[in-house]
Amino acid sequence: MLLDVPPRRILGRFVPTPLPPAGTFAGQTVLIVGATTGIGLAAAVHFATLGANVIITYRVASRGDAAKRHIQGAAGISRKGDISCLELDLECYESCTSFMAKLKSTLPGPAALDVVVMNGGIVNSHWEESVEGWERTIQINNISTTLIGLLLLAWMRGGRDQRPSPAHLVFVTSRDHLYPDLDELVKWSQRDDGILRQVCSKENWPSRWWDSEPNYAISKLLVMYTIEEISKLARGPDGDPLVVVNSVCPGMVKTDIGRHIASRSWFHSLCVYLTLLITAKSADSGARICVTAALKPKENHGEFLNYWLTADQYRRYVVTVPAVLSNNPSEACLLGCVS
Ligand SMILES: NC(=O)c1ccc[n+]([C@@H]2O[C@H](COP(=O)([O-])OP(=O)(O)OC[C@H]3O[C@@H](n4cnc5c(N)ncnc54)[C@H](OP(=O)(O)O)[C@@H]3O)[C@@H](O)[C@H]2O)c1
Repeated sequence: MLLDVPPRRILGRFVPTPLPPAGTFAGQTVLIVGATTGIGLAAAVHFATLGANVIITYRVASRGDAAKRHIQGAAGISRKGDISCLELDLECYESCTSFMAKLKSTLPGPAALDVVVMNGGIVNSHWEESVEGWERTIQINNISTTLIGLLLLAWMRGGRDQRPSPAHLVFVTSRDHLYPDLDELVKWSQRDDGILRQVCSKENWPSRWWDSEPNYAISKLLVMYTIEEISKLARGPDGDPLVVVNSVCPGMVKTDIGRHIASRSWFHSLCVYLTLLITAKSADSGARICVTAALKPKENHGEFLNYWLTADQYRRYVVTVPAVLSNNPSEACLLGCVS
């Protein structure tokens, strides 16, 4: 797709977005979901370097500890309580609700949470069922991300009165949400069991060898719909956002997210290697869009921020997909989430 290589994207790879001045997040608390490695870890380093107290989530305690040590070392800080770790496995609802309870007991109140970056995500090239009975990519990137997003929003809204400005809720999505076969989604939305069951079904998992990440783009499209609903819920009675919500695409970033694709064959491994070598920026560079989003004013509420399309170009591009919008998959996703 030609739109994939406009000058802004190439520029974004070689000229990192500047960071704000030192101390920009001094005294603030930033939660990063999925910060043990890759973009989340790099974002944690940025926020800590800029003065924030950072809370990161982990699935495996040793990886959380290692990430904490890395952030402290890279940000050159040693204040007690500057970096804390909470357990969260997005594959499991019980873990999501215990995480929320722990977060609430860790902080003095909702107004104390200034920024959340919902970054955890996977690419899966084999069909796998999650603990909760959905396909894993959809469970992690969409359903549980939506669940945590809703739980956090409900809590953070209540803190607006005690804050001078709204807190920020940032979702790391992907430009890949523009790629799914919409005709197929429209067809699935008309079935009795709805889109979510269809995209999660093993029978619909493509067996084509070149289709190396079948549900990734769909998971990112569905989460864009739920983020749109979350953005609406974030508005107060006067229409102003009580929490500023944004989605971001970091562009192609050198991380280990393609490991499942690479493990399929030497050919897939070579493709992943070459794609990253030629097109990807560093995690430090990709993560800067999370910092940018965390500083956006309320006027940018609900926007998708990315390095390759301007807001106008993006709006023109998504206008070509009204058929799926009219079947309201965001509702389907939210229903899937609570059922
Ligand atoms: N890399 C790219 O080119 C690119 C491009 C566009 C968008 N993105 C998006 O950026 C985000 C981060 O990707 P990345 O490239 O940094 O990937 P990564 O290096 O694989 O990091 C993914 C993070 O998500 C966490 N995670 C995975 N499964 C989880 C689960 N079940 N519960 C909680 N946390 C979980 C991982 O924690 P563990 O250590 O426990 O596995 C890790 O901290 C993803 O949402 C991805 O879709 C990436």
